[in-house]
Amino acid sequence: MRLHLSTWQEVETYLQTSKAILIPIGSTEQHGPNGLIGTDALCPEIIGGLAAESGLLMAPTFNIGVAQHHMEFPGSMTLRPSTFIATMVDWVDSLAKHGFTHFYWLNGHGGNIATINAGFAEIYASRSLDTGNGRTPIRCKLRNWWQGKETYEKCKALYGKAHGAHATPSEVAVTQFAYPDHIKTAPLSPEIAPSGGYTDARDYRARFPDGRIGSNPALATPEDGELLAKLAAKEVTADFERFAAEQ
Ligand code: NI
Repeated sequence: MRLHLSTWQEVETYLQTSKAILIPIGSTEQHGPNGLIGTDALCPEIIGGLAAESGLLMAPTFNIGVAQHHMEFPGSMTLRPSTFIATMVDWVDSLAKHGFTHFYWLNGHGGNIATINAGFAEIYASRSLDTGNGRTPIRCKLRNWWQGKETYEKCKALYGKAHGAHATPSEVAVTQFAYPDHIKTAPLSPEIAPSGGYTDARDYRARFPDGRIGSNPALATPEDGELLAKLAAKEVTADFERFAAEQ
């Protein structure tokens, strides 16, 4: 069930049996020569969408992330961390007003993790400091789409050391499965991109000139993407149900 494809009456009915919602959260940023700019937002949306077929409610995708380090590549977009946190707070407050209490953030971008956790701290602080005690207690959870045990093991088995850290074959494969008309090919040299750290966008581009980190996304296939997306959706659905039952 998807929030933006539902009516208010359907949401009202859903709230009678569940107060939990899945929010895909990602980024709009370069993903190397054969990866789509939307990859990090598309992956949690695709996997969340499969999970939502079980009946859980999925929010619209929070699709601009913390991606300052990609800003030397055309098409990349970023929020400042402070804007990102403020936006998370407004999304949660909007949904909490209607009675949602459990917010399951399904993330697709490693660069979001620190700021999502800071967002949770802000959300909890605003409740802890509310002297009116008028706000319903809520719970937030962060889950990266690739972190389920079976999904993680499958990524390792499929790609080994060519998996890398950015523009990975697994995430490119998931988008190829969902968007077969948008599969890109490009020469990749070296085959496996360099690895390492970075600071700002200029530093990133100097170290990782084609945008990839440690990966060989030419290994991606839509068939593997289907397998990974369905595996991740199965693990996410089970994890969401556990979370929704937490008091
Ligand atoms: Ni990515």
